[in-house]
Amino acid sequence: MSEQPAGSAVVVGGARGIGLAAVGLATTHVSSMTVLDLPDEAPQVAEAFPGARYQQADVLDRSALEKGFALAAESSPVTAVFVPAGITLPTPLLEVSQEDAQRCLMINILGSLNAIQAAAPHLAPGASIVLCASVAAYTGGGYVGGPVYGASKAGVIGLTKGAARELAGRQVRVNCIAPGCTATTMVGDDPEIHAALAERALVGRLASAEEIAAAALFLWSPASSYMTGAVLDVNGGIRL
Ligand SMILES: NC(=O)c1ccc[n+]([C@@H]2O[C@H](COP(=O)([O-])OP(=O)(O)OC[C@H]3O[C@@H](n4cnc5c(N)ncnc54)[C@H](O)[C@@H]3O)[C@@H](O)[C@H]2O)c1
Repeated sequence: MSEQPAGSAVVVGGARGIGLAAVGLATTHVSSMTVLDLPDEAPQVAEAFPGARYQQADVLDRSALEKGFALAAESSPVTAVFVPAGITLPTPLLEVSQEDAQRCLMINILGSLNAIQAAAPHLAPGASIVLCASVAAYTGGGYVGGPVYGASKAGVIGLTKGAARELAGRQVRVNCIAPGCTATTMVGDDPEIHAALAERALVGRLASAEEIAAAALFLWSPASSYMTGAVLDVNGGIRL
């Protein structure tokens, strides 16, 4: 499992935030990039990775994901997958509606499963899949997301480990990153919230999207060739 993960990459949820940062950083890692996300079009993707393909796909729409991965594999088999697509849900436990809870669990857990299943037929031996959990998986929320968000991200960790076990025979590694508070649309731009979150991290600030994306790209790279089923905490020491 030590092949260079060069070739064709797919970022599911790469139109903005941590995913878009990964697309930009990937220009020196892979030769071809396909981004799948919700908006009709995302010109920022082509700016970040010249020549990148973009296709609209909801992670709850398996056939859209399947088409997206088939498109990505047209040039060469897929060697690198990152799935940062996700939503937060700050609502407290006793107030959260069934609909909101279901949507959060579905997008974050089922969406990650759908991405893995859609990717599977197109993965090259040596491929690396990176899912996106959160520090909230360990704390049950409490930062930007609430308890259901925390549960959804704990589910992503379980999925990572099961997928790593089942795909190892195909020479595919599966890991996840668990970011701390990161300056993206998900956190918003309220300076008071930023200051409160920054205070809780040992490094005294939020992460940039690029700092988190760099961890995903490490898990794509041969430098992580002995890692599978792992959770990489990138949280500025927020829980210490
Ligand atoms: N920002 C943080 O502080 C933080 C902390 C821990 C974990 N995370 C996780 O990192 C990941 C990326 O978050 P971000 O901060 O970049 O947020 P973001 O809101 O900026 O980006 C999320 C991306 O996911 C896409 N997306 C959402 N629902 C989708 C769906 N149904 N189908 C396809 N794409 C969908 C969005 O369109 C967007 O491009 C998420 O999984 C999030 O839970 C973020």
